[in-house]
Amino acid sequence: MALRNIVKDGDPILLKTSRPVEKFDARLWMLLDDMKETMYAANGVGLAAVQVGVLRRVVVMDCGDGYLELINPEITVREGEQFAEEGCLSFPGRSGVTCRPASVQVKAQDRNGKWCVYKGTELKARCFCHEIDHLDGIVFTTRVIKKEPVT
Ligand code: NI
Repeated sequence: MALRNIVKDGDPILLKTSRPVEKFDARLWMLLDDMKETMYAANGVGLAAVQVGVLRRVVVMDCGDGYLELINPEITVREGEQFAEEGCLSFPGRSGVTCRPASVQVKAQDRNGKWCVYKGTELKARCFCHEIDHLDGIVFTTRVIKKEPVT
């Protein structure tokens, strides 16, 4: 495993759409392992492949209830809404309040290509939405409805 550099605000790759993963091979597993290490080293709760410069639909997450790998994730159910402060490893020192669904259901493939279903509320729902946004070139700053002072 190896740490990868996290792409920062201003890099145009963050605004690009990621392509679906088609091969569930050793190259994907190395990417996942590196992303996991990079996310934990940066004390993040989620990381999308585009944030390490790879335009593939791959996300790793850990909102405190266990590590998740999401390949080709899609939100299948959105319910309610929540307003909470959000940040991003690609935007160090910046945060803002966004409106996200209160709960979501997500389907995604695991590292072997098997489809799985996940549910999340609160932080986890926000994280699913934030990371899947990254795969479509959407950064959280475009969803901020109220800026919070940097502390
Ligand atoms: Ni982010």
